[in-house]
Amino acid sequence: MSTLSARGSGQFAIGGDLPVHRLGFGAMRITGQGVWGEPADPAEAKRTLKRVPELGIDLIDTADSYGPEVSERLIREVLHPYKGLVIATKGGLTRPGPSQWVPNGRPEYLRQQVTGSLKRLGIERIDLWQLHRVDPKVPQAEQFEAIAAMQKEGLIRHLGLSEVGVDEVKAAQKVFTVTTVQNEYNLANRKSEAALDYCEAEGIGFIPWFPLAAGSLAKPGSVLDGIARRHAVSPSQIALAWLLKRSPVMLPIPGTGKVKHLEENVRAADIALSDADVAELGALAKAAADGTA
Ligand SMILES: NC(=O)c1ccc[n+]([C@@H]2O[C@H](COP(=O)([O-])OP(=O)(O)OC[C@H]3O[C@@H](n4cnc5c(N)ncnc54)[C@H](OP(=O)(O)O)[C@@H]3O)[C@@H](O)[C@H]2O)c1
Repeated sequence: MSTLSARGSGQFAIGGDLPVHRLGFGAMRITGQGVWGEPADPAEAKRTLKRVPELGIDLIDTADSYGPEVSERLIREVLHPYKGLVIATKGGLTRPGPSQWVPNGRPEYLRQQVTGSLKRLGIERIDLWQLHRVDPKVPQAEQFEAIAAMQKEGLIRHLGLSEVGVDEVKAAQKVFTVTTVQNEYNLANRKSEAALDYCEAEGIGFIPWFPLAAGSLAKPGSVLDGIARRHAVSPSQIALAWLLKRSPVMLPIPGTGKVKHLEENVRAADIALSDADVAELGALAKAAADGTA
């Protein structure tokens, strides 16, 4: 029997009452190129989704804008009624075309997107809904109040934010309980260290997107190659194991549309990096960022 499982990553309770294994799954890559339209290999994308719960992964990250609509629709097709799964979705971005993302934080648009996600996912309440971007063209308070109102109505259980700094999290906390922050973060990109430290202090889940730097940390020849070979694991497994060790509130959601990559990524849950490994990885990442490696 396979022992492949996300369970080794430990648990985190979103909002204090929604426990998930810390290693999750990002469902942006089960769409077409430019996160647009149907995936190139729909059968493989569906096999990947089906394998997610079999591997003990119980946190799936998606958004109305992935496809758009394609990711949420496939999740429902394969996994509804989501027994034991937390489907976290997002709204607040429009999609004029492939690889194009434009924020829209107008209250009526946010409500329309939440209603659409509920319908597409076939549920009455979203376990975790995150504001994909704070729209700079709409007063922040209007956006926060609009989503807090939908939570009060029972459409959303827990709320989170994406691509925010500490000040924005603090401003949102005046209006609703922030349970997750989803920011770009990986071994090579630490611009969100302050936000991560704040989340850890507040017990807020931190969901790093681009955990594999969109595949570049997972490729042979990446800065992680040497240390990965020494540990007899892959560079992507090292990148994810480093994230899991970095903070107990870290909830990585590596994205893939391939069963082989999903299984490879899950193995990271069982890698125990030493403090010496972490120090070496820190130096490697710094050298890569400085252009000296
Ligand atoms: N909040 C936001 O603004 C935001 C932005 C971007 C993403 N996200 C979320 O974060 C998730 C993760 O981010 P991401 O998907 O952009 O980046 P990522 O997880 O860092 O990298 C995904 C890329 O790496 C490849 N990959 C995955 N596992 C691999 C492996 N074991 N070996 C080799 N290549 C591998 C995937 O290709 P294959 O499909 O070929 O495996 C894909 O191209 C997304 O799925 C999405 O849910 C959120």
